[in-house]
Amino acid sequence: PLPADSIIIVLGASGDLAKKKTYPALFGLFRYGLLPDGIQIVGYARTKMDDDDYKKRISSYIKVPDDAVKAKLDEFLGMCSYVAGTYDTDEGFQKLDKHLADIEAGRDESHRLFYLALPPTVFIPVAQHLKKNCYPANGSARVIIEKPFGHDLESSRELQTALQPIWTEDEVFRIDHYLGKEMVKNMLILRFGNEFFNASWNKNHISSVQITFKEKFGTEGRGGYFDEFGIIRDVMQNHLLQILTIIAMERPVSFSAEDIRDEKVRVLRAMPLIDPKNVVIGQYDKSVDGTKPGYTDDPTVPEGSRCPTFAAIVLYIKNDRWDGVPFILKAGKALDSAKVEVRVQYKDVTSGIFKDIPRNELVLRIQPDESVYIKMNTKLPGLTMKTSVTELDLTYNRRFSDLHIPEAYEALILDAINGDHSNFVRDDELDASWKLFTPLLHYLDESKDIVPAKYPYGSRGPAFLDDFLASYGYSRELDGMYQWPTTKAG
Ligand code: BG6
Repeated sequence: PLPADSIIIVLGASGDLAKKKTYPALFGLFRYGLLPDGIQIVGYARTKMDDDDYKKRISSYIKVPDDAVKAKLDEFLGMCSYVAGTYDTDEGFQKLDKHLADIEAGRDESHRLFYLALPPTVFIPVAQHLKKNCYPANGSARVIIEKPFGHDLESSRELQTALQPIWTEDEVFRIDHYLGKEMVKNMLILRFGNEFFNASWNKNHISSVQITFKEKFGTEGRGGYFDEFGIIRDVMQNHLLQILTIIAMERPVSFSAEDIRDEKVRVLRAMPLIDPKNVVIGQYDKSVDGTKPGYTDDPTVPEGSRCPTFAAIVLYIKNDRWDGVPFILKAGKALDSAKVEVRVQYKDVTSGIFKDIPRNELVLRIQPDESVYIKMNTKLPGLTMKTSVTELDLTYNRRFSDLHIPEAYEALILDAINGDHSNFVRDDELDASWKLFTPLLHYLDESKDIVPAKYPYGSRGPAFLDDFLASYGYSRELDGMYQWPTTKAG
């Protein structure tokens, strides 16, 4: 772990990510006594700000419910300082180094954790300047970086080639913040710590696996940025694929970072390239009542953009466990609800004594309201042999009502402080994920005649979605018969 008196340096301290995620997470850790003693936090960005402006900005997303938290926040802000400078000249970084050295005065060693909350354009120069000007002569350095890690295999390799000679794999922590989410971290325990799941977790019992990401809002205001990426690069090649590999991987030899990541890479390597006929894309249009804008109504979106804001992609894994089982990734913006979940649909039971009895489904709800539930058939109580679908239900906010569920960024920054790489993306893992997605992405980028299907803002997605899912054997019959009792969770 990072020793006491280390320094965390947030580059891009005046930006959105730092304000919304990095600083609130650092404060969360501090509040619960999880930061090493005597730590200092130094912000660095181009914006000229005085101390007051800086502190106002970094605390703008921190919730202060009472005086005790206010007192903690004041203490936290007392540990924060700021240096303004450019991203592409030595001068700024020398100034930063001097500021760090002043804090470290009188110590034999210096330990620095650099958090790059930066746009991809300045990523490489900053990584180079930090190595050249701010790398401790005696002590240690780590660097946390955030996606986008390129936009295809080639650009990701360019980035990697630029970073590799200066920062070792051991010093680099590539964040995929989905790996810090509580339910995602629970997946290995659920799978390998429960023999009933473990035993049925294969092509003999499972019909399909769906990983769904739905957001209610569109790209309002961020359209220009989003248009260069699209939903597949934004959340599927990274967040959803990460979940898929954890759901599909073999039992790791241990919980160590390399053992876990070895197994994840093996899954990626066993996946054939994505066949475009197993893909549908969509783009949201005005809402039916006309009150919400369509994607291309955003002035920052280029006219006639073919950028997908929705996609469903079916992947296969060619190994003994999964051959033939469709893994369906589904993601969209401006849909009817906001949730992220994994839905494992089991096969039909042998017919004969039963007619039309619904399938079991295991749902891992990642957000909101973490829960694990199984849709299960049971005899309807009473003088009848009728069956009914019920659930085995683990809803976190009832079962674990007094436990605090950490934010993903809190969990991951703490891992980086502790030097634990298990929930960070390894270089070969990143490479394998781009290898899998790049041919599809290039095909969609280049085929001018492939136009995403329009769907209204606030709808379930393109109209043909249900037929598409049904063609992979997914049965929605349960929907009419079964409603997840959401009111209970609330
Ligand atoms: C980010 C994407 O990586 O993840 C965003 O760039 C998306 O478009 C976000 O909204 C979702 O994260 P979360 O934690 O809010 O589910």
